[in-house]
Amino acid sequence: MSDEKSIQDRPGEISFFDFVPLARENVAEMLPYIPGKPILEVQEEYGLGKVIKLSSNECPFDLPTSLGDAVAKAAWGGNRYPDALCRRLRGKVAKNLGVGEENLIFANGAEEGIRLIAQVFLNQGDKAIIPTPIFDAYNVATRLMGAVPICLPLKKYRIDLEGILLACEQNSDVKLVWLCSPSNPTGDVLKKQELDSFLARLPQNIMVVLDEAYAEFVTDDQAARTEDYLEKDPRVIGLRTFSKAYGLAGFRVGYLVAHPGVINLVNNVKLPFNVNSSALIAAEYMLDEKEFARKHVNLVVAERQFMGAELCKRGFEVPESQASFLFVKLPRNLKKNGVDIFKLLLPKGFIVRPGTAFGVPEYFRMSLGVREDNLGFLRELDKILA
Ligand SMILES: Cc1ncc(COP(=O)(O)O)c(C=O)c1O
Repeated sequence: MSDEKSIQDRPGEISFFDFVPLARENVAEMLPYIPGKPILEVQEEYGLGKVIKLSSNECPFDLPTSLGDAVAKAAWGGNRYPDALCRRLRGKVAKNLGVGEENLIFANGAEEGIRLIAQVFLNQGDKAIIPTPIFDAYNVATRLMGAVPICLPLKKYRIDLEGILLACEQNSDVKLVWLCSPSNPTGDVLKKQELDSFLARLPQNIMVVLDEAYAEFVTDDQAARTEDYLEKDPRVIGLRTFSKAYGLAGFRVGYLVAHPGVINLVNNVKLPFNVNSSALIAAEYMLDEKEFARKHVNLVVAERQFMGAELCKRGFEVPESQASFLFVKLPRNLKKNGVDIFKLLLPKGFIVRPGTAFGVPEYFRMSLGVREDNLGFLRELDKILA
């Protein structure tokens, strides 16, 4: 008799296989992240040769073949643990950003950085402010710690800093504010002046996360940057990633930019070897190989202007984006929502992100691809509109 059977057969005992009552309360009620549909799955489902994935804000360029050589070389050293402190990469990033090495700590993508911040600062029952719609990871990390998200609506596609200050006044246990700039899914940026005035009025015991996963695509020189706050306001914790401008989403390297006191606390909780050897080599390589990221940023800046104008011409509402994607509102007379558009484009080989993922069904979000793919996308969209 198998162990499974013998456990099931014991009368009066809870079913060993109903794990939910055994899980932590906040875990049992969570839902899994739904990633963008993989290219291979769409190819197989619809028998397509080419599929353009515009749903996960990835880089549309293939990585340099020379990167493969560098990573392959590093694989020979895979019998050793990676450098837990990412010293070489840390030195390079510090130089690149003009910050101290003590202001940086690396993670398995910015997403792990989000978890680490929640682990360090959020106690059970603490409150955290989350502008909404926004990247879902803040909500997940907050709830995972047993903390309570206070979700505040955006105001005309912008994070409502006044609304956040009011919520901090009205709620005694706010510990942390999650901000994102450029924000996902709107692409809007917070300006230095706005953030300065916000921080001046925010109670001293509240931490502020500034997720700048798309920082490299920003052309607005008034946009707030974490580097400017390291000296001025130690409550600000910045998040950056190699997944976007540097095209390394599959390698998983992100980092925090913060006061050394915050970095030390994060170092207390992070897994020692959270960034693997290949990822470290890849990030260093792409940082040195400046041309790839520059080319990618130039493409995004040109395409977001081009596609923004093209979509507006067709009656869509597209807020100005400083990121590598556009947030697109469907015209009411189209009588279709973001899921309809997603489903109609899928068999044509284009994957977008329906707004339902953010709780706004009348929208979809699309990453900016290369011109040829963007034109192909518009052709298919035109057929839907006809
Ligand atoms: C705002 C924002 N932060 C963080 C991430 C995750 O970045 P990473 O791939 O480094 O985990 C994303 C990914 O889409 C994002 O949109």
